[in-house]
Amino acid sequence: MGKLINGNKIAAEIKNEIKKEVDELVRLKGVKPGLAVILVGENPASKVYVSNKQKGCDEVGFASETIRMPDTATTAEVLEQIDLLNKRPDIHGLLVQLPLPQQIDKNMVLEAILPEKDVDGFHPINMGRLVAQEDCLVPATASGIIEMLKREKVVMKGANAVMVGHSEIVGKPTALLLLNEWATVTICHIETKDLKMHTRNADILIVAAGVPYLIKEDMVKDGAVVIDVGINRIVKEKANPELLEWRKEDFEAKGATLIGDVDFLKVEPKSSLITPVPGGVGVMTVAMLLYNTMKAARNQARK
Ligand code: GUN
Repeated sequence: MGKLINGNKIAAEIKNEIKKEVDELVRLKGVKPGLAVILVGENPASKVYVSNKQKGCDEVGFASETIRMPDTATTAEVLEQIDLLNKRPDIHGLLVQLPLPQQIDKNMVLEAILPEKDVDGFHPINMGRLVAQEDCLVPATASGIIEMLKREKVVMKGANAVMVGHSEIVGKPTALLLLNEWATVTICHIETKDLKMHTRNADILIVAAGVPYLIKEDMVKDGAVVIDVGINRIVKEKANPELLEWRKEDFEAKGATLIGDVDFLKVEPKSSLITPVPGGVGVMTVAMLLYNTMKAARNQARK
């Protein structure tokens, strides 16, 4: 029977640790950490994520602001906002919520953020430092996953870790962090020929593919640790009978529910530890973004 990893509890612990550090930074240096988020357009999921980030800032005592731009914004207009925020001493962390409308040059935008304020860790300088194992700002979902594994005392050294998904945001940085912990890492993606062959071998299986029910019970080794990064919204009309029953309250209240990439009800009994969706990795991402902002503020206050 799989034991649930309680992301809410671990995230609350991390936020408490950050809160204490904020108090200290305010007391010793008169500096209150500040996070700015640029949100372009009206993507409903992005709006929810950004609002969760702001709430997280309120909880730990950071200043925060959201700069909202229309979905017709140009690359130059976004760069102009970044430049203003780069120059502001009260803003220690700055991120641009993804995805961006297609007319905007994402790489130009990400590379315009000052690396020391890049709390998403997506700037090539931070990515490069991660590869080189230098101190840097690490993408929050990836560091959230590793932090969960550490706090649950999962042994990464020598473990077979399989990362399903190769995105810049999650898959690649998570694979690197696991490698830095001395796991034997396999990265699978949409062109992987026999996904099951790889996932069955995983002591630690991490899934960030954005495909509901991708991981079935016959793809998981007995006793595996399963980390589900997927966040898929399933409307009542598309739900199977099992899900309708399991998430009855969500469907009645909202007409939809959130599930991960793992067929949880089937895989949970085979796992030793497993993250739920929601209440698993998602909440850790916000906690680690706050951690990065705290770190950026501390570094900038030292100068
Ligand atoms: N969109 C999905 N995940 C993320 C994230 O971690 N950061 C940003 N900026 N956008 C995202």
